[in-house]
Amino acid sequence: MKKFIAISGSLRKDSLNTHLLKAAVEIASADSQIEIVDISRLPLFNEDLETEFPKVVQDFKDKIVASDGVIFATPEYNRSIPGVLKNAIDWASRPYGKNAFAKKSVLILGASGGPIGTAVAQSHLKQIMLYLDSRVIGQPEFYLGKAQEKFDKDGALIDEQTKDHLKQALEVLINH
Ligand SMILES: Cc1cc2nc3c(=O)[nH]c(=O)nc-3n(C[C@H](O)[C@H](O)[C@H](O)COP(=O)(O)O)c2cc1C
Repeated sequence: MKKFIAISGSLRKDSLNTHLLKAAVEIASADSQIEIVDISRLPLFNEDLETEFPKVVQDFKDKIVASDGVIFATPEYNRSIPGVLKNAIDWASRPYGKNAFAKKSVLILGASGGPIGTAVAQSHLKQIMLYLDSRVIGQPEFYLGKAQEKFDKDGALIDEQTKDHLKQALEVLINH
């Protein structure tokens, strides 16, 4: 069974992107294992710390290395990715020559309240992940706009069309 790491670019408790990853965990559970990792405890990246990674950073990086791939669910902040997500990616890409994302399959999802569903942020994230030599899935794209309408008050995904789309995207990842 393939194992994937899932990273939400939002730290807030009621994050639509984290809800989306929780839906992915459920949908994919028969064919694969998805572990959502918490990036909120990673310190701010500092090159001085590269000689000996803080344990929380090393654990995070090890999980990516041991995985078959990474699923990102990113909000769009000011037409780009949130700083907390870039911080996590920068850590896992270092030190130079030991980039955890190299050759990993990467599926990028995103949910936002606005109509364009994180398209601009995802475009930035794809550029970063391609530079990091990961195998970014081009199709299907997954832009969830007006996302607050797609979840119930407990954060469960209730929109059937979105569920089907997510299932298709996960199948592509599993067979990638
Ligand atoms: C700092 C900041 C900047 C934002 N910029 C954008 C944006 O550029 N495009 C967009 O669609 N939504 C933007 N939003 C709204 C987010 O889409 C919305 O807060 C979303 O719910 C965040 O994802 P989350 O629910 O996973 O936390 C912004 C929100 C914040 C806090």
